[in-house]
Amino acid sequence: MQTASNKFQEHLGAYPTATATEPSQMKWREEGTMKALAWFGPKDVRVIESRIPDITDPDDVVIKVTGTSICGSDLHLYHGEIMALQRGDILGHEFMGVIDRVGSNVTHLKAGQRVVSSFQVACGQCEYCKKKLSSFCDRTNHSSLQNYLYGTRDAGLFGYSHFAGGIPGGQAEYVRVPFAEYNLLPIPEGLSDEQALYLSDVLPTSYHSVVDTGVKPGDVVGIWGLGPIGQCVAQWAKLKGASRVIGIDKHPERLEFAQKHSGVEPLNFTEYIDVPERIHELVPGGLDVALDCGTFHEAKTLTHKVQKALMLETDVPETVNEMILATRKRGSCGLIAVYAGFTNGFNLGALMEKGIRFIGNGQAPTKLYWDELLNDWILPGKFDPTFVISHRVPLDDMAKLYAAFDKRENGIMKVFVETQFSGPPMPGCPTTTRVDDWEK
Ligand SMILES: NC(=O)c1ccc[n+]([C@@H]2O[C@H](COP(=O)([O-])OP(=O)(O)OC[C@H]3O[C@@H](n4cnc5c(N)ncnc54)[C@H](O)[C@@H]3O)[C@@H](O)[C@H]2O)c1
Ligand SMILES: [Zn+2]
Ligand SMILES: [Zn+2]
Repeated sequence: MQTASNKFQEHLGAYPTATATEPSQMKWREEGTMKALAWFGPKDVRVIESRIPDITDPDDVVIKVTGTSICGSDLHLYHGEIMALQRGDILGHEFMGVIDRVGSNVTHLKAGQRVVSSFQVACGQCEYCKKKLSSFCDRTNHSSLQNYLYGTRDAGLFGYSHFAGGIPGGQAEYVRVPFAEYNLLPIPEGLSDEQALYLSDVLPTSYHSVVDTGVKPGDVVGIWGLGPIGQCVAQWAKLKGASRVIGIDKHPERLEFAQKHSGVEPLNFTEYIDVPERIHELVPGGLDVALDCGTFHEAKTLTHKVQKALMLETDVPETVNEMILATRKRGSCGLIAVYAGFTNGFNLGALMEKGIRFIGNGQAPTKLYWDELLNDWILPGKFDPTFVISHRVPLDDMAKLYAAFDKRENGIMKVFVETQFSGPPMPGCPTTTRVDDWEK
């Protein structure tokens, strides 16, 4: 798939972007190297010594990374399920750090300042950016392949293949952030790195899932997938007034975690094979809102395992079909989980006949929610982002961490990945361990 998609993109030619995105267009320091996690093939990622990025455009900032992480979205890359990956691509889209170098146009940010980065690169000036819909920016992704498949292009994303702009990512010691004044959030005094890091992705993403799909007070909500996103979605749903939240997954420790931290009613889909049937037993008439926080790379049934293997579809419809069946007539279904392309056997009839509001949430626009998340929820202590952190490991372990996160080893949830520039852990948060020492 990678060779074909890269060739097709080359054949179509790149769209112009408002900043350099590809490594070949960027400036790199002549001296020194840094550690970074790079993709070499399905299930083959490695910590390499890479060149260090430098200021390329005048609106850039280069940061020294003090905290990075791994996301469920990285697992789609790990499995080679996202198009246009190339050997040597530096991955990672959740990161924070200290400003190291600033471009000549940057006046509001200074060397030494602590910042967290958005997972998307937005230009700050297009019609979408003016509305703070940063993930939908028109000017930072050259991918003609994405334009061909979707009719338009999303914003470029850090470390997320050449389908998303080819921008080197943040599982590294240094990162170049274009349009830095728009894409970086200064971290207020008194907020720890652990409390700030997840503003990069997990917090705006989970909040967007709940707000954009329209959870209202009194709603009964179902969440498919209880990884870090699903766990935060459960908390937001409750904070927005949901009367009941039912969480669907197969990992007992994830179901227990959601029950313990967010009062979620667990539904293990290996125990209840017919998930919609079980939901109708629990909630006669069905859910008000169903939220997809799962993963399309884990086909559930043999039919779809085979179709995927034969490349007859890129994505599986199992979760969305369950959601539509389990939702009440006129209810809403939201997709925050990432999908890439086409699927077979989608229950279009049920969607239409039940009058379901079926909402693609898109990549979450971080910029739309940053102020609210920080000032209304995190700083006043109404939402504690550290509840989801299960481990802290050094960047050296990043390749092993991909394998462990993929297999959900050792009760893994969200990981804080430290670099040589990190400070000590926040009291009460996990201290550093090595992946090799974890119980398998
Ligand atoms: N739209 C965005 O902006 C955005 C941002 C970040 C992550 N995401 C997506 O959100 C999703 C969740 O991310 P995460 O970090 O929590 O991932 P994760 O991989 O840690 O968790 C996914 C969970 O879904 C469960 N699951 C898989 N198939 C299922 C099924 N058929 N029914 C119920 N549960 C199922 C898995 O067991 C797992 O616990 C991923 O698809 C990720 O790509 C989207
Ligand atoms: Zn992510
Ligand atoms: Zn823009």
